[in-house]
Formats: sequence, structure tokens, C-alpha cells
Amino acid sequence: MIEKIEALLSEIEQLKVSSADELEAARIKYLSKKGIISALMDDFRSIPAEQKREWGMRVNDLKQKANEKIQALKEQFGNNDSPYADADLSRTAYPVPLGTRHPISIIREEINDIFKRLGFSIVEGPEVEDDWHVFSSLNFADDHPARDMQDTFFIQNDPQIVLRTHTSSVQTRVMEKSEPPIRIICPGRVYRNEAISYRAHCFFHQVEALYIDKDVSFADLKQALLFFAREMFGEETRIRLRPSYFPFTEPSAEMDISCNICGGKGCPFCKYTGWVEILGCGMVDPNVLENCGIDSNIYSGYALGMGIERITNLKYQVKDLRMFSENDVRFLEQFRSAH
Ligand code: DAH
Repeated sequence: MIEKIEALLSEIEQLKVSSADELEAARIKYLSKKGIISALMDDFRSIPAEQKREWGMRVNDLKQKANEKIQALKEQFGNNDSPYADADLSRTAYPVPLGTRHPISIIREEINDIFKRLGFSIVEGPEVEDDWHVFSSLNFADDHPARDMQDTFFIQNDPQIVLRTHTSSVQTRVMEKSEPPIRIICPGRVYRNEAISYRAHCFFHQVEALYIDKDVSFADLKQALLFFAREMFGEETRIRLRPSYFPFTEPSAEMDISCNICGGKGCPFCKYTGWVEILGCGMVDPNVLENCGIDSNIYSGYALGMGIERITNLKYQVKDLRMFSENDVRFLEQFRSAH
């Protein structure tokens, strides 16, 4: 009897099948109710009492080994319990939808890159700011309309804590902490209390640039502006500066570029003027330098600030500002190849 079990054991150990059907046949042969191992169990009664124990252990062992073997073969051959049993592994994968970069991010990176080439480094500052960094240090008079509830969001009605209305606040943060030469650009989100429409939003994005050193002149500013305009909008681009006013710069100017849609000939986009406005700039007011602990008799500097949405619109002619914050994939997907 023991030899019979041994023989079966080695038979099962060497068992080979070449299809799922053969495997099923082997399972039935050894393990089904009418199979060889069940039949062996029926012999139990006829086994002499002193052999029963060993015999029982061996049959149990045989049964376990047979189960393991069948299970192992099942993993090789069509394991029909698997949900992937009928999978066609040669099929191409489903396309995974990839996101696109937001147009504001694309343009922000482009602006950053241009200024990085001029030696500027990127600095960020807080969006929740205090009055000093957004207004007072930048030479805004106490009764300046920008401090009005109409224009500025205040946190918990505290007139000292505001959502920054421009990235110029980062200028002061940096000037307070560092010694010139300072050459930074500050990209970020800004907030204004505006009714939302196709041409205005209560939040948008700006990039600020600041350069402070000995002997920085308006000519340096103009050269940086021309470089920026040509890198951003193409070699043919011309610029013009119009006198303007900002509390933190003196003199101040606004820069127009030759309309990048019609090349300056005149079109509906530039209202037939041939020019479009893109940024504000000027020489940092000596009061601002002094407010930040920089000696205005030794140092001078220029600053400029632009709206990223504005530049993005010039490049891509987005007609409705609200599109930038709606996250409609039909809009965003149009920028798939932009970068
Ligand atoms: N902070 C101004 C604004 O939000 C933009 C600006 C104008 C920034 C002139 C400057 C500058 O640095 O020199 O409208």
C-alpha cells in the first residue's frame, strides 16, 4: 500500500500538461470525488491497525501535494477564475489623457526665462500682505484711492491686512532684507475688488521686475524693456514709452509695443493706433529706497510691472478673461502644443 502512495506521489510530482483541458482532466483523475486519491481513502478500513497512522499521514500528504501541483499548473494555464483570462495582451493600451499647461503658466515661464537671461532671479512673496508692503512703503499717500474698500480686499475688515493688489509689494520685502545690487523678478497672483466680467477679474497675475545698483539709469530700463519686448513678441517689435504716474516711481512711464497682430499698421485689436499698452515702469522713487533702508544718494534703480493675462492675450487673443479661471478643458487643450 505504501509503495502505491509513493508511486502516485512521484507521478503527480512529474505531472506535465500542455493545455487547460489536460489540466482539468488531471484534476479529475487525482482529486475529484471519484478520483484516485478518494479511492485510496476508501481503502482505509482494510489497512492493518498498526499501519493506519502512517498510511493516513501519507495519503493526506499526497492529497496536499496533488492540490499544490494542480494549483501551480493552473497559474500557467488559463486560470479561468482570473478576470484577465481572455485578455489580448497584444492590444495597444487605452490612451491616457494628458493635461496641458495653463496658458498663464506658459507665459509666466516665458517672462521668467527672458529676465533670467538678463541675470534676474525669481522671488515670491505672500498674497496676504500688510498695508506697509502693499501701500505705505511704496509711497502711497494715506488718502490714495487704492486703499479704498472699493479697490482692495481687506482680511476680516482689518485695514492693516490686505490681499495684495500688485506684486510691487515683493519689491519692498526684498529691499528691506538685502543689500544692492538687487536684480529680481516676482511673479504672482494679485487681487482687486472688481466686478467680474469678460475684461476684469477679482484676481489675476503679475510679474514685477526690480533692479537696484549704483548708477542705474533710465537708459538701462529702456534697454531691458526693448530686449524683453523683442524676445517676447519678435525681433520686429518696436516700443514706445509714454509719461505716466505711479506713487513708487519717478519718473514713471507706460510702455506700448507695436501691435503684434497687424505689425503696427492698425487693426481692430489696437483700435487702429498701431500700438498696444503692456506694462508700467519707472525709476524707483528715492522715498521708496529710503523706506527700505537703502541710501538713495548711493543707489538708484528701475522697476516695472506687467499683467500676465495681458501678455497672454496679446499672444493668444483670448477674448474673455474669465476663461483663464474656469478650467474648461476645451479651452486648455488648445494650448497643448504651445510648449
Ligand atoms: N504695480 C503697478 C500696478 O499694479 C504696476 C507697476 C507700475 C509696477 C510701475 C512697477 C512700476 O514696478 O514701476 O498697476
